[in-house]
Amino acid sequence: MKTTSLQINVDKLQGQIVIPGDKSISHRSIMFGAIANGTTTVSNFLTGDDCLSTISCFRKLGVEIEQEGDKATIYGKGFSGLQEPSEVLDVGNSGTTIRLMLGILAGRPFFSTLIGDQSIGKRPMTRVTKPLLSLGAKIDGRNDGEYTPISVRGGNLEGIEYELPVASAQVKSAILLAGLQAKGETTVLESSKTRDHTERMIRHFGGEIQVDGLAVKVQGGQELKGTHVQVPGDISSAAFFLVAGAIVSNSEIILKNVGLNPTRTGIIDVLKEMGADLQIVNEKAAFEPTGDLIIKTSSLKGITIEGSIIPRLIDEIPIIALLATQADGVTIIKDAEELKVKETNRIDTVVHELQKLGVKIESTNDGMIIYGNQELTGGTVSSHGDHRIGMMLAVAALICEKEVRLENIEAISVSYPNFFEHLQSLLS
Ligand code: S3P
Repeated sequence: MKTTSLQINVDKLQGQIVIPGDKSISHRSIMFGAIANGTTTVSNFLTGDDCLSTISCFRKLGVEIEQEGDKATIYGKGFSGLQEPSEVLDVGNSGTTIRLMLGILAGRPFFSTLIGDQSIGKRPMTRVTKPLLSLGAKIDGRNDGEYTPISVRGGNLEGIEYELPVASAQVKSAILLAGLQAKGETTVLESSKTRDHTERMIRHFGGEIQVDGLAVKVQGGQELKGTHVQVPGDISSAAFFLVAGAIVSNSEIILKNVGLNPTRTGIIDVLKEMGADLQIVNEKAAFEPTGDLIIKTSSLKGITIEGSIIPRLIDEIPIIALLATQADGVTIIKDAEELKVKETNRIDTVVHELQKLGVKIESTNDGMIIYGNQELTGGTVSSHGDHRIGMMLAVAALICEKEVRLENIEAISVSYPNFFEHLQSLLS
């Protein structure tokens, strides 16, 4: 575990960053490349640890994958080209890998076992395995199937209609991936709209999917065809620099090639509602839309964040909490219980770590209350092995007055391996 002193008391951030590839879309580019027929090429693939875990799992399923830097080529042979793995599939820290793979493996007539790191071992899996069991897969795991290790013997699936009890793109995606291999039709009914990258990928790979409001439907037995995937920059990574630019004095940062899928842009809505000086330029339509963002030092006001916007910014809540410490007035975050089952319990880790930096912030059962106009002191903080907590604390340090030491800094490479290089480039 590495501990590092962070850059503090910064007087300005200026420059331009090309945001690395989107994590959710990079995972799916490998998965869809593997289950499609023919060759898939990927550009701007995110080389974060999580996406590398996805590649390693699919290689163990017999899929040939070349990857060099941000380019990947997948030689897919369809769902039926996947082979029984002779080793366990290790997903590392990646919830997306395990949950979406469970959907794929549920339809495969062979045995496989999935494991992950300590954090994965605490994350709930019955939210995915329950609907997959009702499609007909045999799945079991520790603690009545709730936790890893999880084993699957798939095949012979029949389509279902399933109402999601939690707003989760991972669960929706797992059911759709199983549904593509099932007899008949599979319908997922969402409670709030979650990220729709899987739906877009199915279409991009030549498949059909019907989306009608909160109902998403696929027919089983479709053949997907290999294609090219241009991965947009990850808005969840851009979020750290959007907030840094807004809260550090004399700043102006241009963030290039940011994915602007409307199911992910809750952070932009929040920044605007809080009064941030944010511009969107060079918008481009594609299977995943993109644009450039320009953020300048802003005067902000506190707001309440709740309801259907929550899934559109769920991964940005740690950095929004920091943003709120610099706003005029109180910010309240509600309806965000899901934070408790992320890489860490993000209500607890955000509140405790920011308190160590002298912030007045309180946890609630479904979110947090953050007081504004605060001066941050300094101290020793920890990522707790959670990449987004690590990056949030590195941005917090920029406005701290005293030394800040960050423990377990290496977690950041899960989603943003060159985060510190990018930060450094804005300082010089
Ligand atoms: C993801 C979905 C979200 C998000 C995670 C990535 C995805 O999780 O928090 O970082 O790629 O589908 P849930 O679907 O569990 O909310």
